[in-house]
Amino acid sequence: MRKRIAILGSTGSIGTQALDIIKTHKDKFEVVALSAHKNIALLKEQMGDFKPEQVTITDTKCYNTFLKDNKYNITLNHGLDGLKEMISSIDIDIVLIAIVGVAALEIAHYILDQGIDIALANKECIVAGGELLISKAKDKGARIIPVDSEHSAIFQCLQGCEDDSDIKNIYLTASGGPFKDMDIDNLHNVTPAQALRHPNWDMGNKITIDSATLMNKGLEVIEAKWLFNLDIDRVKVVVHPQSIVHSMVEFIDNSIIANMGVPDMRLPILYAFTYPRRLDTDIELNLYEMGNLTFERPDMVKFPCLSLAYEAMRIGGSMPIALNAGNEIAVYKFLEGDIGFTTIPKMVEKAMNIHLRDLIHDPTLEQVLYIDKSIREQLV
Ligand SMILES: NC(=O)c1ccc[n+]([C@@H]2O[C@H](COP(=O)([O-])OP(=O)(O)OC[C@H]3O[C@@H](n4cnc5c(N)ncnc54)[C@H](OP(=O)(O)O)[C@@H]3O)[C@@H](O)[C@H]2O)c1
Repeated sequence: MRKRIAILGSTGSIGTQALDIIKTHKDKFEVVALSAHKNIALLKEQMGDFKPEQVTITDTKCYNTFLKDNKYNITLNHGLDGLKEMISSIDIDIVLIAIVGVAALEIAHYILDQGIDIALANKECIVAGGELLISKAKDKGARIIPVDSEHSAIFQCLQGCEDDSDIKNIYLTASGGPFKDMDIDNLHNVTPAQALRHPNWDMGNKITIDSATLMNKGLEVIEAKWLFNLDIDRVKVVVHPQSIVHSMVEFIDNSIIANMGVPDMRLPILYAFTYPRRLDTDIELNLYEMGNLTFERPDMVKFPCLSLAYEAMRIGGSMPIALNAGNEIAVYKFLEGDIGFTTIPKMVEKAMNIHLRDLIHDPTLEQVLYIDKSIREQLV
């Protein structure tokens, strides 16, 4: 029987790569639901190619535009309620969450509440609502299978590890981004076009900027803490510019297991769909032509976003919500040319300072959403 897959955020970088890999394994997978925010033209193409049972458009204006020209015989839903309706009314084996930003949190929580497995690409939702999602998954017996390449790598390295106490540290690899070797004094001149040129990965705009500031790695440290139930100081970052080693686990006997492959997101996406089995691909790493692999410490002075993420997690409670909200606002302001590159960490720090006096320990979903909204309002 084919696995029935829903893809939320099907029009983005992860969403389109997921559809690409599904296309090559049509005998194994069936796309039953898709969602897009604004890119209706691409959604229409995907509907033609994959014939899902339902689709959802989350942006209201785009939904209304689509309605005028809906010649498809497919149930069409709208907004967050529409996503929920779509998830609960069809039979789904796994949902790939490829939406960008904390906008994915509520629906991720809802899907787990339905007891449905998640293939999780979105990292902002677990940064803001880690405790909530992990405990919901546990309560409902649903799995959160990581898609982020580093977390997929750790997940793969841990197959066969029977006890968490065998783990000493995990090492998340970071490419270092496009400004790894730039002098710190020149960073304030960086333009959005330069920051969008990632050396190894082709990704959506928000994560590409996060990679340039190293906030992406900061968010991933928090994501790893939740997914693998580790103390934050046992989640380390190592800069590995070749992006061949996707991450590593160091065990208490000091041996290290690494996951390697070409930097291609279709591999971790496919593994999330096939776990615990695997399928053949043509995405092959040629060891003879790979060249040298290097590893170095991240520069947290030049890239303060990484240390802000550790700090937010050490403070704990609701602070990572402020970190994430501050970062989302700052990244979009940078992309629009409203602030400079080096103002991004300053805005994140400001968001954390604003939130310090309102810190709470175990925020409910409603509190997470409220804090996220109020931080955004105070920053604009
Ligand atoms: N790209 C990668 O290689 C990569 C790797 C690891 C992890 N991730 C994570 O995966 C997530 C997606 O990244 P991406 O690079 O694929 O982003 P992307 O290319 O910007 O795509 C984002 C997707 O989310 C949809 N979307 C945007 N705003 C939305 C909202 N408010 N509500 C619902 N849907 C919304 C977009 O729809 P429209 O396009 O129709 O507007 C699009 O389908 C991020 O959390 C990122 O950190 C990405």
